[in-house]
Amino acid sequence: MKIRAAVLEEFGAPLSVQELDLAEPKAGEVLVRLAACGVCHTDLYTASGADPSGYAPTVLGHEGAGVVERIGDGVTSLAPGDHVVTLFSPQCRECEHCRDPRTNLCLAIRERQNLGYLPDGTTRLSRDGESIRHFMGTSTFAEYTVMPEIALANVNRDAPLDRACLFACGLSTGLGAAINTAKVQPGSTCVVFGAGMVGLGAVAGCRLQGAEEIVCVDLSEDRLELARGQGATTTIIGGPDTVQAILDMTRGFGADYTFEATGNVQVMRQAVESARMGWGLATVCGVAGKGETLDVVPRFLITGRRIAGSSFGGVKGRDQVPHLIDRYLAGDIDVDPFVSHKLTLEDVNRGFELMEAQDGIRSVIEFT
Ligand SMILES: NC(=O)c1ccc[n+]([C@@H]2O[C@H](COP(=O)([O-])OP(=O)(O)OC[C@H]3O[C@@H](n4cnc5c(N)ncnc54)[C@H](O)[C@@H]3O)[C@@H](O)[C@H]2O)c1
Ligand SMILES: [Zn+2]
Ligand SMILES: [Zn+2]
Repeated sequence: MKIRAAVLEEFGAPLSVQELDLAEPKAGEVLVRLAACGVCHTDLYTASGADPSGYAPTVLGHEGAGVVERIGDGVTSLAPGDHVVTLFSPQCRECEHCRDPRTNLCLAIRERQNLGYLPDGTTRLSRDGESIRHFMGTSTFAEYTVMPEIALANVNRDAPLDRACLFACGLSTGLGAAINTAKVQPGSTCVVFGAGMVGLGAVAGCRLQGAEEIVCVDLSEDRLELARGQGATTTIIGGPDTVQAILDMTRGFGADYTFEATGNVQVMRQAVESARMGWGLATVCGVAGKGETLDVVPRFLITGRRIAGSSFGGVKGRDQVPHLIDRYLAGDIDVDPFVSHKLTLEDVNRGFELMEAQDGIRSVIEFT
């Protein structure tokens, strides 16, 4: 079939929205009609050429939500008409990692997905016979996409898809960091560094876990206002004195849980240093620049602090994304303030501009 899609032709150049060919889903694959897709930093990171593992030509986009149109042979967990959220982090439910509750890093299709291929090593996307790769196994800046069954979460049909798409990446990452990775205990004190999509999700996750104090740190007063809306009890403008400010608030001990959601390695260090002596846990969500390292004085660890990393919030996507969306529908998570702009696919580059200008939390592309 012919589809319109936003193609990364050349690093550093704007995406080009054009007509491509999309082949039918093969065994274990699903054809999805996209309804909405968020524009995320990872798309821009790859488009810019900064990502050393990036490739082109490819169709970007990974924060998608849509409706199953057709299924390939052997697909049993989805049927036409089902509403789905795309998962760049799949869940096969069979590999060593999927069977272990300690991780969400499914091993089933990692290598091929990282290279932009579907599990059988080929692509369904093409143009005049030239194959076009599937970015993150999702390629959701497109009217339709073909994805592996194991990379689609079947979600409640009552959820508006222009909200559900945020659960495909940043929002679930933040929520999961608090709920799965840190497993925040009721009554605890939390600090979240960064109030973008991931940090705001972490604030909401800490609130859902019953944290008593939630401090949010950001450079933008507008974003801190959003953090208060998600449950932050104290907000502070970040800077070199942030660690001292947090120690002053916690009788010199530091916070039970800290979360880093900025991608800045200096802030990661602050997250470690403001975690509580004895048991404080610093959870790192941000993606640092190529070659950057996190500098930690070992004394912070010997005196009982721990550091954890979190990919997609430790969320096992097919099991947990539907559950998080049910919590949203139950009124536990306020998603509306995160959708700052609505765009058409033709305006996808505008989404990147808005993101670079830090205008709003997420731009969402809607397909009509
Ligand atoms: N681990 C994962 O699976 C995963 C998934 C999605 C995104 N990410 C990463 O998470 C990070 C955050 O993503 P986002 O979409 O929320 O980004 P964002 O750019 O929207 O938000 C980052 C926030 O950090 C704030 N900030 C910057 N410097 C700061 C400082 N010194 N002190 C306090 N706050 C500061 C900014 O003002 C901004 O509000 C990025 O690095 C992104 O690549 C990770
Ligand atoms: Zn993303
Ligand atoms: Zn698996």
